[in-house]
Amino acid sequence: MAASGTSRGRLSFLVSSGPTRERIDDVRFISNRSTGRMGHAVAEAARVAGCDVVLVSGPVSLSPPDGVRLVSVESSAEMSREIRARSDSSDVVVMAAAVSDFRPGKPVSGKIKKGGLCSLVLELERTEDILAALGKEKGGSARPFLVGFAAETSDLEANALEKLRRKNLDMIVANDVSLFDRGFGSDSNAAIVLHSSGEKTEIPLVSKSEFAERLVGMILERLERTATGVESMG
Ligand code: CTP
Repeated sequence: MAASGTSRGRLSFLVSSGPTRERIDDVRFISNRSTGRMGHAVAEAARVAGCDVVLVSGPVSLSPPDGVRLVSVESSAEMSREIRARSDSSDVVVMAAAVSDFRPGKPVSGKIKKGGLCSLVLELERTEDILAALGKEKGGSARPFLVGFAAETSDLEANALEKLRRKNLDMIVANDVSLFDRGFGSDSNAAIVLHSSGEKTEIPLVSKSEFAERLVGMILERLERTATGVESMG
């Protein structure tokens, strides 16, 4: 693929990947099944396409792709801080991370001892929706181009469309994570990509690296269209 750039220089991608960990105490946490394969593949595809890439990743067992700048985080709060510090200076933000929606309200210092306890109730509080915050800040401006992933187990398209609108995104990748061959932990992926323009594109079942190449290609094509005014000409 040829190097991608604008009159400002090379395009900059900010990609999030992996799960987050939310502390219960000093030895336990809440997390999810994300392996980071999808986010890392997106970062690599953007790099191969000639873009500058920063990858903000939760704890994963993958090495960062060559030529990509890695920022490692653990919790959703750290991910939010690192993403929000860089979003304004990025052309594209792809939130492929499975950010925890809840965290223990009062993490405990040290280790919770079971003592004579037969049960333990954990009170969870909501975390910040990072993507929704970016969408709100972006308002009506074209930059950064915001891409979300919708992990769904039912009503795939309707739920993804609702997230696209509610979070003010340019594009959302609707993933049916109830199927074994796509989503968390698998080597492949297939999805419906919904665009803010109302268009819909399908990516068939392919390896995660090919999926990422197609997705990055789609993002670059959209940016190109906007830059040349094709979108506004209908
Ligand atoms: N996301 C985020 N911050 C959160 C939760 C999600 O930035 N606290 C982002 C994800 O990275 C993803 C998109 O929002 O790109 C959609 O995430 P998803 O888990 O599918 O949906 P939620 O908004 O969390 O809604 P729900 O859990 O109700 O399906």
